[in-house]
Amino acid sequence: MADQSARAHLAGLARDGQVLRIPGPVSARFELASLLALLDDGPAVVIDRVDGFNFPVVSNLLNSRARFARALGCGVGEITASITRATTSGFAPETAAEAACQEVVVTAEQHDDLLSLLPIPHFFEFDSGPYITAGLVIGHEPASGYRNASYARVKPLGRNRAFIGIAPNHHLTALSRQAAEQGRPLDVAIALGTHPAIQMAGCFYLQLGQDELANAGALLGEPVRVTPGATVDVLVPAEAEIVIEAKLHFDQKVAEGWVSEYHGMYEDYGDGQVLQITALTHRRDASFQVIMPGLFSEHALLGGLSVGAGLITALRQATIPVVDLAVTKAGGGRVNVVAAVEPLKPGQAKRAFFACWAAVSMIKQITLVDADIDVWDYEQVEWARNARMRWDEDTFSVPDAITDRNEPMQEGSVVTKIGLDATMKPGRRRTNWQRALPPAEALRAAHERLVGDGLQAWLAPGMGVAALVDG
Ligand SMILES: Cc1cc2nc3c(=O)[nH]c(=O)nc-3n(C[C@H](O)[C@H](O)[C@H](O)COP(=O)(O)O)c2cc1C
Repeated sequence: MADQSARAHLAGLARDGQVLRIPGPVSARFELASLLALLDDGPAVVIDRVDGFNFPVVSNLLNSRARFARALGCGVGEITASITRATTSGFAPETAAEAACQEVVVTAEQHDDLLSLLPIPHFFEFDSGPYITAGLVIGHEPASGYRNASYARVKPLGRNRAFIGIAPNHHLTALSRQAAEQGRPLDVAIALGTHPAIQMAGCFYLQLGQDELANAGALLGEPVRVTPGATVDVLVPAEAEIVIEAKLHFDQKVAEGWVSEYHGMYEDYGDGQVLQITALTHRRDASFQVIMPGLFSEHALLGGLSVGAGLITALRQATIPVVDLAVTKAGGGRVNVVAAVEPLKPGQAKRAFFACWAAVSMIKQITLVDADIDVWDYEQVEWARNARMRWDEDTFSVPDAITDRNEPMQEGSVVTKIGLDATMKPGRRRTNWQRALPPAEALRAAHERLVGDGLQAWLAPGMGVAALVDG
């Protein structure tokens, strides 16, 4: 039975020498975020002591595709396929025999400011306050039985009240609005430090009512073990490190002020909703998980891989022969897509663009490349745009297309979207499309020779050559 918290993943990373331990003390106000900013593409991080708090902090658990692969037990090239499969399959959660996440239970009756116990970072200079960023918010709609799990930022307001910022088109908004229409707050549990599979499923873009905890089970290969909340009517992942229980009051509004967004700048979205915190539960030796928000790797990848899985499904439904897809960090893991496809029929490129825009309204820029291009390698993608496109014929833009409120260039909720077809088309060149390279066999032999001479540390193959050697 796999441990369903993040600690087994962290222990595995430690065995691989992939964890940096910072004894501290570190200040939660800007110092913690500064360290994480400097270690963005670096090791997983454990900070033993944050000034004034008892919980250690863990971060960078999923800040590279290699870490996602490790957590899922697959190769880097198989991540997208694993996640895509899990969007359409699942195991219903099952009740746990023991609830590690409730080894310690402190209720609002016992403590008048529960969030003050947590080392919540103040990340960026002009953010309106400190934020919990790694909280997976779980709620359900009693009448329909719909359950939802998704990330949403939480900012303490003091005295067991907090601000929660949820995009208007998210399912958590739909559930909390429905509850308010029935004259009640929505019971929620905010879980931190769950197994990476559960964290990933929280970012899936699915239909309203599709249960992300069940999809998490598909990624885990077993049902998520859950336990009833101590003070709320929600089943919470039983092995989480920390759970914040609360009532979400959709009709109680509070202004937020500036907050960082995926695109790396700030937004001011106006009002968000109020949480009334009812309990804090945790493991006896719990860690507090932090995900660096804004334009940083873990935030971009967690969102981007999940959005990508939804796009692959949409493209396949539209009969586009897609073989790989990246939602890039440069687009914050939200708006910029590179899709590798087998040769397309006339008109299929436009169908692919429309399928992506229809599936996820945030998507702004889509580049189609051939299957020989590594969609994660900006240099290769840039090369394909340069070497395989005629801008007048292969660029397709749609003005005034609907987008989300987080789009940096939107005006009145619309923006111009663009599709770039950087695939090879017949009859476009005087000679053929062949890359000028030594023969693959000669390359492989040279590779063997260098490795045989103990020179692998010097190997640094140029663009696209590594694939030829491996292949
Ligand atoms: C680390 C992280 C933080 C996020 N923070 C927020 C947030 O503050 N507000 C929000 O609306 N979405 C946020 N998201 C995105 C949503 O969790 C995501 O879009 C999710 O799929 C929405 O699901 P839902 O429509 O089922 O509610 C965040 C995503 C990640 C990975």
